[in-house]
Amino acid sequence: MAKKIIQLSDVHFGDITFSHQLKSNLLNQLEEANPDLLIFAGDITASGFHHEYQEALEFVDELKSLTKTHWVPGNHDARNVGLVHFQNMISPRKFVHTDKNSNFTIIGLDSAEADVSHGQIGRDQMDWLKAELAKIPEDRAKVVTFHHHIIPIPQTGRERNILLDSGDLMHILTENGVDFVLNGHKHVPNVWMLNNMVVLNSGTATTGKLRGNMYASYNELEIKDGEVLVNLVKTETGSKKVMAHYSVEVRDESLLIQSYTHNSIHQV
Ligand SMILES: [Fe+2]
Ligand SMILES: [Fe+2]
Repeated sequence: MAKKIIQLSDVHFGDITFSHQLKSNLLNQLEEANPDLLIFAGDITASGFHHEYQEALEFVDELKSLTKTHWVPGNHDARNVGLVHFQNMISPRKFVHTDKNSNFTIIGLDSAEADVSHGQIGRDQMDWLKAELAKIPEDRAKVVTFHHHIIPIPQTGRERNILLDSGDLMHILTENGVDFVLNGHKHVPNVWMLNNMVVLNSGTATTGKLRGNMYASYNELEIKDGEVLVNLVKTETGSKKVMAHYSVEVRDESLLIQSYTHNSIHQV
């Protein structure tokens, strides 16, 4: 059964470069796209302040009324004890999404630390993740999301706030057959393939906090029988570019990526 998932992040309500025009473009585009699920990969606010969460609430409620949504916090949401507001006003900080009408399970983790830009998952959450991954039947796609990136992203300058425990996390993810990882944080969309695991980053959807020639964007995943398509959507115009395409197959009760194409979106 075909499913459409939106991977959105880094809207940054309260930031000086936040664009109300891009926000309304985004809402119109999502209404038209009519996704089955929206995964928000962190950084709703600029500084975690209550008034920023308050400002974001109408947008958040609109998305919640549009489709099923799941949210994890980013480093900006954790500033100024902002996770109190995140939990009170937005959602819990981690989640497991599974529904019997789809062939995937998504687990969300909180990688944000108070008042610093880098993040970590931590041993307790890793134990929880391992236990949750073990419950997922092999024939389902396993998807994990958290805000910070686990490997460097091109065109983002000096690497300085990758997850502190990314090595241990990557080991757990790849050893447990995770198929897709969805991250935000760097404001530059990207796709890597690592040990047959796809690592997909979304950009900033509604701000001018952009690097190089990148534009405000988000990702759209279309999961069909035997294939997964990833579109990069430009928020300003709604135009799409195919970022990745995967042929997938269930063999011996395991989901396998048979072949793939990645289209570079970076300058070389
Ligand atoms: Fe961000
Ligand atoms: Fe971030």
